[in-house]
Amino acid sequence: MKALLMGGTRFVGLHLVWELARAGHDVTIVNRGQTPASLPDGVRRITCDRKDHASLRRLLSGKEFDAVFDIMAYVPGDTRPLIDIFDGHCGRFVQVSTGSVYKSVDIFPWKEDFAKITDNSQGDYGYNKQLIEEMLLEAHARTGFPVAMIRPGYIYGPHNSVYRESLFFDRVVKGRPVVIPGDGSYLTCFGYVDDLARLLVLCATRKEAVGQAFNFSGEFAVPMNDYMEKVFAACGTRVPLVHFRPEEVGITDADVHKVFPYRWRSQTLRDTSKAVYLLGYKEQVSLDEGLKEAFKWFVQAGVERKSIDFSLEDRIIQAASARC
Ligand SMILES: NC(=O)c1ccc[n+]([C@@H]2O[C@H](COP(=O)([O-])OP(=O)(O)OC[C@H]3O[C@@H](n4cnc5c(N)ncnc54)[C@H](OP(=O)(O)O)[C@@H]3O)[C@@H](O)[C@H]2O)c1
Repeated sequence: MKALLMGGTRFVGLHLVWELARAGHDVTIVNRGQTPASLPDGVRRITCDRKDHASLRRLLSGKEFDAVFDIMAYVPGDTRPLIDIFDGHCGRFVQVSTGSVYKSVDIFPWKEDFAKITDNSQGDYGYNKQLIEEMLLEAHARTGFPVAMIRPGYIYGPHNSVYRESLFFDRVVKGRPVVIPGDGSYLTCFGYVDDLARLLVLCATRKEAVGQAFNFSGEFAVPMNDYMEKVFAACGTRVPLVHFRPEEVGITDADVHKVFPYRWRSQTLRDTSKAVYLLGYKEQVSLDEGLKEAFKWFVQAGVERKSIDFSLEDRIIQAASARC
């Protein structure tokens, strides 16, 4: 397959580039050439700032691809020119959306046909991704534009550019306690980045994907306390867990987010069975294995943060120990 990736050098895109190259596909990436990455031999690069629509049109118009993967569109203006350029010129257009397009409801697991957000009251990120989805589906209805969309929940693995599992690795290697809001019983799903790359390829190659959106996350939900045990197992050592209630410490939910990178006031559960029955998707990497890979990368790449301001965590730990 002749594949084009918008992005391709940071996390999801980088893993997809390697997945495609391993399978012998012809890969071209489009980015600004600013993010350093180790790429497979033979990958072509088109250097372009996608915000510069005139250059984008000049460099991509008239080119034909079996699959275009847009890994990193964040606002509708990122997507509009690509529909113009590739309508009639690509076999499939695969969009990386987000699970944040769903209206937050307490019915689980969330399925693809659950209600979507209609304004930015849950944040601009999910709302803009939802507007992008609407634009792509409108093009699909109008011209048959061959879109397929993935809505990932929490993605993890080597090269994760979001400070999530690495936040915990940093505490473990420094021998510091990990602070957990609430009692840690809430359930969360984590999807391994190479499994996501494989699902993106299925979206590009299976005809059943056209006009559809698919959730992506880990197959099994885990309570946060169990997840932390898996993190410790991946690191080969453990540190104390300190549970706390933000009200007791006198901090806001925004502060909690600085020390704990997941939702905790509700579960985070996505139904991923649609990708299984429609596309034949199968998770290949368990959470235990995936966290080991992520920690191996964390150590080898030397991404440990040397200086971290622990003052908020110290306040939390102090308040929690005063309560005991
Ligand atoms: N992390 C999660 O848990 C999570 C959950 C749900 C959804 N998602 C979605 O997953 C995607 C993750 O993306 P990623 O960062 O991993 O993708 P990526 O394709 O691996 O990396 C981002 C790429 O964008 C390029 N880029 C940035 N600004 C650009 C510009 N103005 N013009 C052209 N290229 C530009 C970067 O290269 P240069 O800097 O060299 O330009 C880089 O190649 C996002 O769509 C996100 O919304 C993530």
